[in-house]
Amino acid sequence: AVEQTLSIIKPDAVGNHHIGAIIQRFEESGLKIAALKMLQLSREQAEGFYAEHSERPFFTSLVEFMISGPVCVQVLQGESAVARNRELMGATNPEEAAPGTIRADFATAVSANAVHGSDSQASARREIDYFFAADEIYTR
Ligand code: CMP
Repeated sequence: AVEQTLSIIKPDAVGNHHIGAIIQRFEESGLKIAALKMLQLSREQAEGFYAEHSERPFFTSLVEFMISGPVCVQVLQGESAVARNRELMGATNPEEAAPGTIRADFATAVSANAVHGSDSQASARREIDYFFAADEIYTR
């Protein structure tokens, strides 16, 4: 089925000038960019986005990293968009990411891993609503 998923190009990849290369991979795989914005997350926004990780030992460093510079947030739309985006990203840890994936090619560490992608359709809905109003998403 056609789905939407949320993608974040993280501060490391934005800072390393990889926005274009990463978005090209989405588009070449058949995922449409249905929404797109660049923003500097506040601490509160980053904490709320990653609320499910709030008890993890890496939570504070995760939030610090995500507010260390601007991010680029996208809604990707297409057939099986959640799973397709996860395939394109590769494993969370770039050392475990398959060759040719975004994280294998652009990430430097599990903490600075270039991209985030929703892990289910339920989290995609929550994450899309976290960043975008309905009239900012172009579902053509
Ligand atoms: P992301 O998909 O954005 O969701 C949570 C993030 O926590 C994850 O990607 C990683 O970048 C980050 N993270 C930092 N340290 C760890 C860790 N030790 N294990 C898993 N995720 C981590």
